[in-house]
Amino acid sequence: MSAPEPDSAVSAAPAESGSRTLQMTLVVCLVCSVVVAGAAVLLRPIQEKNQKADLIRNVVAVSGLLKEGLTEAQALKRIDARMVELATGDEVKGIDPDTFNIVKAGKDPEISTELTRREDVAGIRREPRYLPVYRIIGANGDMKKLILPVYGYGLWSTMYGFLALEEDLRTVQGLRFYQHAETPGLGGEIDNPKWRAQWTGKVLFDQNWKVQVEITKVAIDSSTPEAQHQVDALAGATITSRGVENLLKFWLSDKGYGPYLARLRHERS
Ligand SMILES: Cc1cc2nc3c(=O)[nH]c(=O)nc-3n(C[C@H](O)[C@H](O)[C@H](O)COP(=O)(O)O)c2cc1C
Repeated sequence: MSAPEPDSAVSAAPAESGSRTLQMTLVVCLVCSVVVAGAAVLLRPIQEKNQKADLIRNVVAVSGLLKEGLTEAQALKRIDARMVELATGDEVKGIDPDTFNIVKAGKDPEISTELTRREDVAGIRREPRYLPVYRIIGANGDMKKLILPVYGYGLWSTMYGFLALEEDLRTVQGLRFYQHAETPGLGGEIDNPKWRAQWTGKVLFDQNWKVQVEITKVAIDSSTPEAQHQVDALAGATITSRGVENLLKFWLSDKGYGPYLARLRHERS
């Protein structure tokens, strides 16, 4: 009687189950990646819609219209968004301000220009050629306020916000940041309503339309003429505070909205 043949099925089992496990893992990975990629593609329009809604909500919030008693829907009807070419101050047709992505635009070499170290007061490296501006329209169609997107580097992050100017294009209605990564409790206090409230009524230009703004660690003496241009620095966050001052100086200068503001002043004189 010959010796029994070795059981090939038994000896191949561990190798086969190993390859089955690998196959299953690959299938699960593939399915998962298709689901994740599909979800990302399908959800992108919803995300973009939400981002846009959030942006407009911030424009409404900084406009002061809600404080005047308007509902968000009523306030929205008073906002007239336009695209502006920064270098000339001309309004630009053919670009939709509602879908224009400020964050992306500032990084896209196609529609932004590099700033020299000297020019880059706000620490943004590149500047978009165009940006949206938001006019708040009064009952008779006149511009009552102007809202400008502003941004610049703090300590840890680029701080994106909106500056609302009163009809005189000199006085602040509000300053509000909607995206940054400064430290909560320190630089993150730029979101503190008490700090934000200090901005309302501050004057950002002198009589010759030279930018005047200072965020100061020294107690503000309200009896001095400088007080109208001054805001308290955030405690323990001098660098973030300086970032806010610098970004305002940049965006109100000729490198920022200067040409557009000059055009509006001229139109209204
Ligand atoms: C963990 C940590 C987080 C900080 N976050 C900020 C910040 O968000 N903004 C800021 O200006 N300074 C921040 N600082 C403090 C700065 O390092 C720096 O000391 C400060 O800006 C100086 O401001 P002061 O003169 O008001 O103290 C942080 C410090 C630490 C240790």
